[in-house]
Amino acid sequence: MAIMPVVKMDNPVLHQKAKKVRKIDGSIQKLIDDMIDTMHDIEGVGLAAPQVGVPLQVVVIQMPDEEDVITLINPEIVKTSEESEEMTEGCLSLPGYRGDVKRFTSITVKARDREGKPIRIKGEGLMAQALQHEVDHVNGIVFVDHLESMDKLEKTEAEDEEESGSI
Ligand code: NI
Repeated sequence: MAIMPVVKMDNPVLHQKAKKVRKIDGSIQKLIDDMIDTMHDIEGVGLAAPQVGVPLQVVVIQMPDEEDVITLINPEIVKTSEESEEMTEGCLSLPGYRGDVKRFTSITVKARDREGKPIRIKGEGLMAQALQHEVDHVNGIVFVDHLESMDKLEKTEAEDEEESGSI
């Protein structure tokens, strides 16, 4: 078990497109395991490899109250709903802040799982939001990039910081 430090918003790794994983070997399996440990430690809903300083297209997501962790390698959005809605969002790389971001209400992502098998995941609601947030991360986009200005960021109260900084 290894918990990795989560990089903060000023780190350039969060603002560049991550590289595609070419070969899913032992080092990628270890990265996935460490990312899962880190996500559990900080009680996050999802984590992308750039957030632990690794510029690779690897994402882990676990919905609250679900046992299964979804691992997405080289994820790509293949389909979105026509509808979108403003959703309040925070990021583990920007603790203490949140903002309203327009997200598709439903989305389909294709990727490879940790065994390298091609998978498609369809998500709605929080899952759709988490998928869009994490696919953004591997493309060097953070949620504040979607805000009109940094003035739209809200500071969260100490007691709900955990909840707001969850993706
Ligand atoms: Ni994030």
